[in-house]
Amino acid sequence: MRHARRYLLAGFAALAVGAFAFAQTSVAPLEEAEPVETLPLEAVNAMAELQKTAPGNAQNGATLAATCAACHGVEGKSTIPEMYPNLGGQSEKYMARQLALFKSGERQNPIMQPFAAMLSAQDMRDVGAHYALQPASAGIADDTVVAEGPYQGMKFYEIGQQLFRSGDFERGIPACMACHGPTGAGNPGPAYPHVGGQQSWYTARRLEEYRAGTTSEDDRAMFDIMAAIASELSDEEISALASYMQGLHARPDAATVAAMAKLPAPAAPAPAAAPPADAGSEAAEPAAGDAPAADAAPAADGAPAADDGAGGASLQAP
Ligand code: HEC
Ligand code: HEC
Repeated sequence: MRHARRYLLAGFAALAVGAFAFAQTSVAPLEEAEPVETLPLEAVNAMAELQKTAPGNAQNGATLAATCAACHGVEGKSTIPEMYPNLGGQSEKYMARQLALFKSGERQNPIMQPFAAMLSAQDMRDVGAHYALQPASAGIADDTVVAEGPYQGMKFYEIGQQLFRSGDFERGIPACMACHGPTGAGNPGPAYPHVGGQQSWYTARRLEEYRAGTTSEDDRAMFDIMAAIASELSDEEISALASYMQGLHARPDAATVAAMAKLPAPAAPAPAAAPPADAGSEAAEPAAGDAPAADAAPAADGAPAADDGAGGASLQAP
């Protein structure tokens, strides 16, 4: 064995310029070097391993999340919003899948991959179950008025709001809320991710990745759902959507609050669902606070999915 290796080294050296051949003696110590490390088999099979897991255990997940807290916060609120995405309220299934993708190297990020590599497939679901129970974050949407272009005169986030609620039929863009819900809470069943309140730079970058259509995911099915949708979006639309979604969160509007006040008792401990009305503008500064509910109605036209996803039905008391 050792000899074979020595020959191999010598062979390479011979192929190289004379100076390398001359340096052969100094090459010898390499024989003592550790064998080249290969990826553990488990890492390669991270996606397959996920199929064999049981539903996540949030308690164990909370323990595991101690490792993640430095960046994502114990409750899933990013410690450095400019650098790390929020995870609070994210669905277990979506998170576990992304962690497996990081671990297998199909989704690449030098900061995140080592942390995913430490997790077993069951850990991924456990930590996902923990973050799914944490509160979602809420950010601030940009209400600057757009000066020129096709959206001239609209507030920046309103471009995103319009697309999020109604899509653009002529261009084949579906309403984002059909899958991600009117409050951006996503849909845990098919693992449509929670997108409300996320940092706009992160959302914009994800949309750009989908638009570019390049991925190293072996199974592109989930990726391609978004790739088809994002392929039509302009830079301006991506930024506006990202801004709108950063401000998007579940908060009952005045009418909902009034209706809730009349209820004898909450039928179920479901979170108060917000109709699309309150989206985005809540966080804007007071000057921009033109009654969110009022200007929301037209934008919600033709968006049949309005009741989907956010558990709005739970508000309708018998
Ligand atoms: C040192 C900082 C750091 C730590 C610690 C860390 N992460 Fe991350 N995480 C990141 C960064 C950066 C990203 C964004 C990756 C990208 O840009 O694609 C990320 C992305 C993610 C995503 C993808 C989110 C999405 O919406 O697709 C998940 C899920 C995630 N992290 C879970 C975890 C879990 C679980 C842990 C603990 C086991 C953890 N992270 C620890 C930095 C960190
Ligand atoms: C048909 C359902 C569907 C519709 C409609 C849809 N999405 Fe998605 N979205 C998905 C799925 C599925 C994923 C997860 C893809 C993956 O695994 O990478 C996703 C992922 C995302 C992500 C990444 C989230 C993260 O945490 O990394 C963003 C951002 C997003 N969608 C925004 C949008 C926007 C904006 C629209 C409307 C223009 C939209 N989506 C419309 C299904 C949908």
